[in-house]
Amino acid sequence: MRLAGAIFSNVTKMLDFYSQFNPSPLSIKQFIDFGLNACERKSYLFLRKELPVRLANIMKEIALLPENLLRMPSVGMVNQWYEKSFEEIIQFEQMEPEPPVLTQFCERLAHIRNRHADVVQTMAQGVLELKESHEVDTGIENSIQYFLDRFYMSRISIRMLINQHTLLFGEQLGPKQASVNGIGNGGRHIGSLDPACDVAAVVRDAYENARFLCDRYYLASPELQLMQNGVPSKRPMPIVYVPSHLYHMLFELFKNAMRAVMECHESNPPPIQVNLVSGKEDVSVKMSDRGGGIPRSVTDLLFKYMYSTAPQPSKSDSDTVPLAGYGYGLPISRLYARYFHGDLALMSCEGYGTDAVIYLKALTNEANELLPVFNRTSTKFYRPVAQLGDWSASLNTASNSGCRNREKVSPISSHGM
Ligand SMILES: Nc1ncnc2c1ncn2[C@@H]1O[C@H](COP(=O)(O)OP(=O)(O)O)[C@@H](O)[C@H]1O
Ligand SMILES: [Mg+2]
Repeated sequence: MRLAGAIFSNVTKMLDFYSQFNPSPLSIKQFIDFGLNACERKSYLFLRKELPVRLANIMKEIALLPENLLRMPSVGMVNQWYEKSFEEIIQFEQMEPEPPVLTQFCERLAHIRNRHADVVQTMAQGVLELKESHEVDTGIENSIQYFLDRFYMSRISIRMLINQHTLLFGEQLGPKQASVNGIGNGGRHIGSLDPACDVAAVVRDAYENARFLCDRYYLASPELQLMQNGVPSKRPMPIVYVPSHLYHMLFELFKNAMRAVMECHESNPPPIQVNLVSGKEDVSVKMSDRGGGIPRSVTDLLFKYMYSTAPQPSKSDSDTVPLAGYGYGLPISRLYARYFHGDLALMSCEGYGTDAVIYLKALTNEANELLPVFNRTSTKFYRPVAQLGDWSASLNTASNSGCRNREKVSPISSHGM
């Protein structure tokens, strides 16, 4: 017992220590440059500090979550995974980068990646558990939204670091080959980055896979019209990017667009248009559907975790992949876009259709990681204060705070108008 207590207090101390450091964001250019001259020792020395820093920064925020949420079994489980992984990495703090240590480190990272594979679903489950057992007011809802954005972003970044190291130096590739050529999968890859990622090919790939689900669900699916600068094109469009991230965003957008189109048109579904445009600052991928659009009254909800107009997929039917229903598609896709300082926006005309645009940074030195930093400012968001409305509320959403504001006499009287 005493030993366990000593280990616990040591980990707590280490957590305090590492959380004082800000994470060091890397740009796509830095990932590429490092990968081209990949040195395992250097990567090890960087990660054995950077990973605990990123873990500690987000673990400090987990600790600030509302008590009720922290008590949910799934959240407890996620918390334990983070504690375990943090503890496992700081064991390397004093270890010199000798070959056996490097091998052990690589294996440890792969192990940690597996341990955290189900974090998104498990955390989502925790939030559901809270909502089923407690009343959740808007203050708590906002804190959870704020937290999940930061928590999932942190996870994307940690996975990126782990993937780069294990793909470049892991056993499956042979470390020599990887360090000489920077070869990952498919020859030209640098870890999970592709210096010539063909956006058009990723669009077609995501389309085909979403279409497969759509066909199974609706027995039909809309066609794809792929364009570049507004004209039909079959040419490749290479960018430096992580293909799996781009695929994730496009697959989610296609599933949403297809569902909307199929729900809106019983026969002859109109095609989904995707327009690829390369500018000086941004590469933009615009997807336009004629799926009836989204009313303005719900646009604020689109990026909320768990907002969905689809029925929740049943847990018993875990073999079939659902087309929609978890409400995580848009918020997580936007995080992928923002991770390298891009963005994802939706624009809709209710009654007609929706445009979704993925913006990516065109220049690799501007595509910096966007990372959550734990400090006093972030702490503030976990102590929600009731906001008083400082704009008049619309008739159907008039709130208590709106009523209270009526005590003030309007300076613009009807006589003056
Ligand atoms: N292209 C679209 N057309 C119409 N509605 C959309 C479109 N994209 C998203 N939505 C709406 O946004 C909601 C949330 O989308 P998402 O986050 O992907 O979760 P899910 O697809 O699981 O419902 C959808 O349920 C749908 O109501
Ligand atoms: Mg979706």
